[in-house]
Amino acid sequence: MTSLARFGGTPVRTAPLPSVANADGRTIGREEIQAVEAVLQSGRLNRTMTPASRVAALEAGFAEWLGVPHVVASTSGTSALHLAVAAIDPNPGDEIIVTPITDFGSVIPIIAQNAVPVFADVDSVTWCIDPASVAANVTDRTRAIIAVHLFGQPADLDPLLAIARDNGIPLIEDCSQAYGATYHGRRVGTFGDIACFSLQQSKHITSGDGGLTATRDGALARRMRLFADKGWPRDGEIRTHLFYGVNYRMTELQGAVAGAQLAKLDDVIADRRHAGHLLTSLIEDLPGISIPALPGDGESVFWLFPVNVDAAKAGASVGELCAAIAMEGIPASAGYVTPLYLTPALAEGKTYGTSHFPFDSPYTTRSYTDYQPGLCPNAERMGSAMFTVPINERYTDDDVRDIAAAIRKVVTAYASGAVTAAHAAH
Ligand SMILES: Cc1ncc(COP(=O)(O)O)c(C=O)c1O
Repeated sequence: MTSLARFGGTPVRTAPLPSVANADGRTIGREEIQAVEAVLQSGRLNRTMTPASRVAALEAGFAEWLGVPHVVASTSGTSALHLAVAAIDPNPGDEIIVTPITDFGSVIPIIAQNAVPVFADVDSVTWCIDPASVAANVTDRTRAIIAVHLFGQPADLDPLLAIARDNGIPLIEDCSQAYGATYHGRRVGTFGDIACFSLQQSKHITSGDGGLTATRDGALARRMRLFADKGWPRDGEIRTHLFYGVNYRMTELQGAVAGAQLAKLDDVIADRRHAGHLLTSLIEDLPGISIPALPGDGESVFWLFPVNVDAAKAGASVGELCAAIAMEGIPASAGYVTPLYLTPALAEGKTYGTSHFPFDSPYTTRSYTDYQPGLCPNAERMGSAMFTVPINERYTDDDVRDIAAAIRKVVTAYASGAVTAAHAAH
């Protein structure tokens, strides 16, 4: 017999968990409200016209927090990555290696700069980019590697840095989901040439949307600042435009909110780690599931909580487990995103008009028709090999215990064979 809610039993939980989509899962409070009010009262909402700019203060504060001298704020995580790619300044048709398991915002900037995304497969434990696959994809056209620290976990940086160094190309770290994650005890975002962060609603700190790009290299930082501001050197004597750029300027309103959020970041990280470690300790003994072991003595900051599944030992598919856990009142999602090269934008080369540019052009030998099923096998089997549950800094220990109880109830029922028998009788 089984008491699973899926088969008519009582669910573990009926109250919704605190969610990053709502105030109950965020840390937005009086500090943010006061900061925004002060900006509104000043009448200066644009950073370039504001002497004591909140955006400039955010950049300085984040540089100090990360321990990297230059930070440029922009309007989103996607724009933060666009600053990075534009600063590296690839020629049309140059290649940038990236993971297919990430938000499309990691890839959009490559196409926006008319370069070609080349997809490396992911590791089947952490689902971060696999250095061996990166090495296999390097060509004489490779201009950069983008490593995403997925779900709050560090990617395996030592071999990635070695590949970048051996080939004389920069490593861009996409830290959008991983503020404060560590590798060999050091914060991600301090290893590569450029680090990018998102301030979108679901991230560790948020201004609704927003982005931060960090680098130790003053010349790269200057290119980023110019690119985000129409190529306009505001320190010069005349108004001119030094190269093609866009307007990705963060507003003072976003800067005010993000600055107040930054002051809370260390607590957010500590609270997420507390919840993540508690959940790990409560379910790690279960049969057929495992919590990813991290490379480089890594420490996650738990953006999502990933659970790997050995379906044979678990006695159920990932889809079945997720459906049953959801019925217990805990949202669980199989896999993460469709590998990006299988989405229409890439698989059908939907870029500029009907041109498919830069694919199929004299600038590259690559075609969008290379983006076929089978390109990255681990990425493609992720949806049947793992699931995630949401986690955030506002979870109480009781919230975490409910999640653990739901997972334990479901996994134990399936692994013991009780479900099949009960299902047959149902
Ligand atoms: C890993 C990763 N990279 C890039 C982005 C793009 O950030 P944004 O949505 O702020 O443009 C996100 C988040 O959405 C992300 O999770």
